Amino acid sequence: MKLAIIGTGYVGLVSGACFAEVGHHVTCIDEIEEKINSLLAGRMPIYEPGLEEMVKRNRNEGRLHFTTNLAEGIDGAEIIFIAVGTPALEDGRSDLSYVRKAAVQISKALSDNLSKNLANNLTNNYAVIATMSTVPVGTSDEIEAILQENLPDDRSVKVDVVSNPEFLREGTAVYDRMNPHRIVIGANNQRAADIVSQAYAPYKAPIHITNRATAELAKYACNAFLATKISFINEIANICDLVEADVTQIAKIMGEDPRIGPEFLRPGIGYGGSCFPKDTRALDQIARSQGHYFALLKAVIEVNNVQKERFVDKMRQAIGGFRGKTIGILGLAFKPNTDDVREAPSLRIIPILLDEGAKVKAYDPIAGKNALAMLGEREGFEICKSPYEAAADADLLAIVTEWPEFKELDLSILRSVMKKPIVCDGRNIYLPDVMLNAGFEYYSIGRPNKPSEGKAAIVSINHESIIGGN
Ligand SMILES: NC(=O)c1ccc[n+]([C@@H]2O[C@H](COP(=O)([O-])OP(=O)(O)OC[C@H]3O[C@@H](n4cnc5c(N)ncnc54)[C@H](O)[C@@H]3O)[C@@H](O)[C@H]2O)c1
Repeated sequence: MKLAIIGTGYVGLVSGACFAEVGHHVTCIDEIEEKINSLLAGRMPIYEPGLEEMVKRNRNEGRLHFTTNLAEGIDGAEIIFIAVGTPALEDGRSDLSYVRKAAVQISKALSDNLSKNLANNLTNNYAVIATMSTVPVGTSDEIEAILQENLPDDRSVKVDVVSNPEFLREGTAVYDRMNPHRIVIGANNQRAADIVSQAYAPYKAPIHITNRATAELAKYACNAFLATKISFINEIANICDLVEADVTQIAKIMGEDPRIGPEFLRPGIGYGGSCFPKDTRALDQIARSQGHYFALLKAVIEVNNVQKERFVDKMRQAIGGFRGKTIGILGLAFKPNTDDVREAPSLRIIPILLDEGAKVKAYDPIAGKNALAMLGEREGFEICKSPYEAAADADLLAIVTEWPEFKELDLSILRSVMKKPIVCDGRNIYLPDVMLNAGFEYYSIGRPNKPSEGKAAIVSINHESIIGGN
């Protein structure tokens, strides 16, 4: 099939490469010239495991193209996907300006292309517009209205608008997109649903065809439920901290119940990233706009916000205030295997430390540049080249992202370079007894520092299952 994707970010670029990988001819379009030039030069604008090789392979085989020219990019496409950003507005509603702009551009380009193609005796007067971006209920209707308003009055160009939410996760986006659990297609008619189903047929995933509102709401329901699991286990961890219980063991016990499942029961400093925070707030606003008070979701959001402050409190208490202290930070990305720092806990924590008079030395394997761009140059804030450099002379080291390399650190070197061997582990990547034996004062989330009789054995047996985070 011939496909076009507007927006070449985490979703658009990965989807483009994965559609090309299964044999479709794909053009990825972005308005940022620098991004497209970098892709044309073979450089990835984002980091995702496996992406670079896949893009290279499909470009070499002539199935994947990049352009800033939207009219050229969508010409002849059977499906035009919209994968532009939908960031949160101040009040939590989704900012749909990028989606609306793309809809206007599509209708203009379709009209222009039609006259050009008619002159060349080509007939290409039908296209499906499929929205991959996460958008509030009713957005497909709005896109349809924008298209109808801007397409020729004589109805010589016909379009159908479909909601096609994307479920990939950053860090494993290529894998997720090649092995989807399910495909959701919200359509008003069978013809449009069939065309989009055909594009996804090679992935052999179940396809759910629904009405558009159902598809739009399904995406928010999934993200809000996952966020609920995270906030729930974080609240259990907070109680554990008060009663000397071990949240790791509780999560394991809960997760072995198939009705609960083990995923997303890892306590930490709360969820971040470009999706969960904005999507939970947007769903809250969707409910509110319909006069519904979504009490549970409000609590999930509140718990998540407070969780980062609790962690900073733990750090503050551990060293008796931040003024004049040096804090090492390990991890800036919102989760491992990505360079994305949007709504990353690090961006909430670091400014508090700096404001309260600390010097902050931070390290991340790949997200340092993006974090610096978001936080800006600030006195006392430094991006380091290694975890040991970040820890050097620190009064406290905080683990903020659970990158695999942090689990492999040489603890004796780490201890020897720090001014005081105090570690606050916001992702529970170490075992408390290992850290205590290595000579650290160690604080984590929802786990007692001194293992009780018989407990150490259980913890170490399950070591593999407790590392990692949300
Ligand atoms: N990132 C994720 O993990 C993820 C997962 C599932 C769904 N989503 C949703 O997918 C959407 C895109 O997310 P993302 O993370 O890929 O965003 P992103 O910011 O990485 O990429 C969006 C891209 O769209 C481009 N763009 C915006 N308007 C354009 C226009 N008119 N013409 C051409 N290009 C345009 C921007 O320049 C940018 O490169 C969002 O709605 C998001 O909620 C994201």
